[in-house]
Amino acid sequence: MAYENIIVETRGKVGVISLSAGKLNPLSKQLLRELMDAMKTFEADDNILCIVIFGNDEVFCAGANIKEFASENFVDMFSQNRFGEETEAFRNCRKPIIAGVNGYALGGGCELAMNCDMIVAAESAQFGQPEILLGLMPGLGGSQRLTRAIGKAKSMEMHLTGRRMSAREADQAGLVSKVVPDADLKEETMAVANKITEQAPLAVMAIKEAINQSEELPLREGLLLERRLFHALFATEDKNEGVQAFIEKRKANFTGK
Ligand code: COA
Repeated sequence: MAYENIIVETRGKVGVISLSAGKLNPLSKQLLRELMDAMKTFEADDNILCIVIFGNDEVFCAGANIKEFASENFVDMFSQNRFGEETEAFRNCRKPIIAGVNGYALGGGCELAMNCDMIVAAESAQFGQPEILLGLMPGLGGSQRLTRAIGKAKSMEMHLTGRRMSAREADQAGLVSKVVPDADLKEETMAVANKITEQAPLAVMAIKEAINQSEELPLREGLLLERRLFHALFATEDKNEGVQAFIEKRKANFTGK
């Protein structure tokens, strides 16, 4: 697929997708199609171990393309199951995805970031679910994911008033893994991604699965899943290599086997 709204590149073992759809990066249907295609391509590429999503130099994403909404009705949204495919694409991706967020991350932009496994925020980042101001509500996970990330009280207030949250508040509330100066966002996000690519890929995959399942499973089932995945990693060559490297005081050479 030829991309017109995103820029896709490979940096070492990291697949980088940068939204490039104008000043505010509204999430048009075409942009989302391109994003899904790029994610599936990276997911299928054995040389890629982590995926990063950036906005442009000033804005991550101002949300769904409101202008497209003007001509759309219930039949369009329901019959096309709008955002269903995107929600599943993120759920099905087994490689870690990191969002590097600067500027606006509003509506679908905030949801896009939260569909990733981790958010690194620049100081300029502003998160919000302002759909209420349009007489709407989130459709790409906002009401569920923001509530799980920052708790009911703050999530309810943000959704019902449309207020935005600064990077610092998002950090304190647990929405983002860290806040960095804007000038360092790309470097700092890539540093986290590169660090992940140095780890044993099967362990990375298992940890991502266990943590994401923690949001869905009762504790007892989550603990069992974790224990079984922990047991399963004892069948990997990378576990032998990692333990042996520790004992021999050398860097492990993981192979993904
Ligand atoms: N979809 C489509 N177009 C959008 C958009 C969106 N999500 N957000 C902004 N735009 C358009 C504006 O309509 C405007 O278009 P115009 O130049 O043809 O008039 C242009 O982008 C610039 O927006 P403007 O509001 O003038 O810029 P700003 O810097 O004053 O404010 C925002 C930026 C992002 C705070 C503001 O545009 C905004 O609140 N956007 C809506 C965010 C939102 O509700 N997202 C959830 C959608 S479900």
